[in-house]
Amino acid sequence: MGMRSKIVGTGMYVPEQVVTNDDLAKRMETSDEWIQQRTGIKERRWITPDQSPAELGRKAILQALEQANLEVGDIECLLLATLSSQHDFPGSSFFIHEELDMGEIPCLDLRAQCSGFLYALNIADGLIISGKFKRVLVIGCEVHSTGLDISTRGRDVSVIFGDGAGAVIVEAQPDESAEASILEVRMHAEGKHARKLWIEAPSSANTPERLTHEMIDDGRIFPHMEGRYVFKHAVTRMPEVLLETLSAASCKLEDVDLFLFHQANLRINEAVASRMEIPPEKVFNNIQKYGNCSAASIPMLLAEATRKGKLSPGQLVSMTAFGSGFTWASALIRY
Ligand code: COA
Repeated sequence: MGMRSKIVGTGMYVPEQVVTNDDLAKRMETSDEWIQQRTGIKERRWITPDQSPAELGRKAILQALEQANLEVGDIECLLLATLSSQHDFPGSSFFIHEELDMGEIPCLDLRAQCSGFLYALNIADGLIISGKFKRVLVIGCEVHSTGLDISTRGRDVSVIFGDGAGAVIVEAQPDESAEASILEVRMHAEGKHARKLWIEAPSSANTPERLTHEMIDDGRIFPHMEGRYVFKHAVTRMPEVLLETLSAASCKLEDVDLFLFHQANLRINEAVASRMEIPPEKVFNNIQKYGNCSAASIPMLLAEATRKGKLSPGQLVSMTAFGSGFTWASALIRY
């Protein structure tokens, strides 16, 4: 019997600590006006010293399990998309595994940055269609705040990012009975742009030591981005992969009920929607409150849209992301 996969639960969690644009302006030369005008962001969340990525992940997962009426023991595999690993190794997924006491199920980290959740969703779909697993947990979890240059030197990047986690549970269902399902996912990458948005150090390619005092002093341990270059590629690649995915699923743009775009910059999403003539009421954004949470942004959107009644069963949902790597991807689901 053929299998298809369906999202049966969504969850999200952001830390309680709110950091406004005015809070940042006390620590660097910036302003609420500049940040809102360029990015649409009003505030973001940062973890407090007692919190960790694993804790954020655990809380998002528990919410998804509750919605799906499932327990931790029902999950057979954990896929985590993140670019802000809790430690160099092992991967962050192992610490989430520990927090949730997940027995001996396999887990792994996937590193495709802001497109990471859609990459992981595609892999979960493949694992389910192949019959290897019946229930896969896919999570995006990021703690950016502890790795940002919170000074005027790092202001172009540090005002954008926030901390958060979003989780979905993907479940197998017989092909014939499938009403809701993952219809299509398309992924792309172009490594030649890898250094346009990256953290250079620590680097195992740096000999004899992967991390030196000089690297720290030079700020090479912080994210660096050629903002305009990234922006230009994002507004081109996102429509491209969105249309490719729709076409592969034999669906039309106007069939889609809700568009969820990666929350990198509200201006990117407005430019994409306007280019594609997507009505604003069909787009849901939450970057204003949470900033860019990289791999966590799309599952957080899914969870919040569900809870706010913007997304209901049977609707056609398109999700599209672009990020460091460069990577870009799009998924189309019947919710
Ligand atoms: N506050 C105030 N001024 C700032 C600032 C800040 N936080 N950050 C940069 N500036 C200044 C710059 O120093 C520059 O000053 P100058 O003209 O005197 O040199 C000026 O603002 C313009 O900088 P620029 O970097 O050209 O701004 P921009 O219009 O490109 O906007 C981004 C910057 C980051 C908002 C924008 O490039 C962007 O969103 N890029 C894509 C982000 C993205 O998609 N990231 C990847 C997703 S994961």
